[in-house]
Amino acid sequence: MATVTIPEEAKTIRSPESVREHLARAGIDYERWDPSHPIQPDSPAEEVLAAYSAEIQKLKDRGGYVTADVIDVNPRTPGLEAMLAKFNREHWHDEDEVRFIIHGRGLFHIHPAGAPVMAIEVEAGDLIRVPRGTLHWFNLCSDREIRAIRLFQDPAGWAPNYTGSGIDAGYEPVCLGPAYYPEQQM
Ligand SMILES: [Fe+2]
Repeated sequence: MATVTIPEEAKTIRSPESVREHLARAGIDYERWDPSHPIQPDSPAEEVLAAYSAEIQKLKDRGGYVTADVIDVNPRTPGLEAMLAKFNREHWHDEDEVRFIIHGRGLFHIHPAGAPVMAIEVEAGDLIRVPRGTLHWFNLCSDREIRAIRLFQDPAGWAPNYTGSGIDAGYEPVCLGPAYYPEQQM
């Protein structure tokens, strides 16, 4: 289950309904998906895509996505630092950023127009859709490991357009992790 934090308001949101509502206000879709049959974190990509084929098809129909693949990122990934450096500064895409997390964790920061920046920590079972044009940046958590399904309308549109605002430098890319229980919840 995703955790949303809003540093400016010292707020942490953990209940599924509140997370969904808060993200929806910023135009971000959030869902929880269950596989149609059990899979392992390291199951082959085809098996992973098959296990979620009904959800993937629904999303494709809704969003015009034409392709789905599985991306693996871990400390052994060649060129990991360069890859991460492309996405850890504020940017937007001409393409929706759609990710379903199979394994591992990641941290999206979203910068909605006229609202404070929010951090969304995603984990296995979380689907997030960041619409095209939304300002955001992404970091891995300290274990630097994530496996996710990606959906594309047009993979060519997924290059980052940087704002150069530098706002990302003001937010610690720190994940709370599953064992962290903040004092303030809603
Ligand atoms: Fe992005």
